Amino acid sequence: MSTPTLHVSQHPAVLHKLAILRDQTTEPKKFREVVRELSWLLGYEALADARVRPMQVATPLETMEGAELADRIGLVPILRAGLGMVDAMLELMPTAQVWHLGLFRDERTLRPVEYYNKLPTSASVDLCLILDPMLATGGSATAAIEVLKRWGAVHPVRIKLVNLIAAPEGVEAVSKAHPDVEIYCAALDRQLNGVGYIMPGLGDAGDRQFGTGKSD
Ligand code: PRP
Ligand code: URA
Repeated sequence: MSTPTLHVSQHPAVLHKLAILRDQTTEPKKFREVVRELSWLLGYEALADARVRPMQVATPLETMEGAELADRIGLVPILRAGLGMVDAMLELMPTAQVWHLGLFRDERTLRPVEYYNKLPTSASVDLCLILDPMLATGGSATAAIEVLKRWGAVHPVRIKLVNLIAAPEGVEAVSKAHPDVEIYCAALDRQLNGVGYIMPGLGDAGDRQFGTGKSD
């Protein structure tokens, strides 16, 4: 699949951590740690074209021209599973604002249902990063992008999607509906199974982070 807006990390540290995350024996505590570490690495890649502005910095020896992040950034974690990606992103971009968006996937229809929205009244940023470990059918990501665009995150405001694992079906759905949105992920997996799970994937990202199961 050739999608110009898709960036799949090839970094050895990302590949190493992703294998730990996929392993079915990885317990929630370790799983959360690795989600956090991978988020840091993917956030680093997603920020590669962020704008900086010059500033003066005094080293112990002299004053020089340094740089500081100029883009105003909004982080949009998709509840629940996106929560685990927030802290690492805030370490990278401490001045970012965080707007929570609650979406869950109806397990029967696989369609997203919005249940929480903490966006401020108007878009006041240059770059929105949507955080969600899994891009499966693309229904949740497309819904999140539509919410952000309706709210005012349209050109020149940029939207990027940061996922840990993407399915080809989800990448296609997002890039068709929103060719302006770049997607950063740690892996592009093979396909969805009959019930909308990514294969080989890692299972349910929310359940694995929070120690819940099908009946919770
Ligand atoms: C998962 C995941 C995405 C969505 C992806 O969330 O975190 O939000 O599914 O699937 P899609 O691309 O087919 O929409 P889920 O609905 O399981 O909710 P949760 O985070 O509360 O567990
Ligand atoms: N949501 C998940 O958490 N995992 C999948 O494989 C698909 C959707």
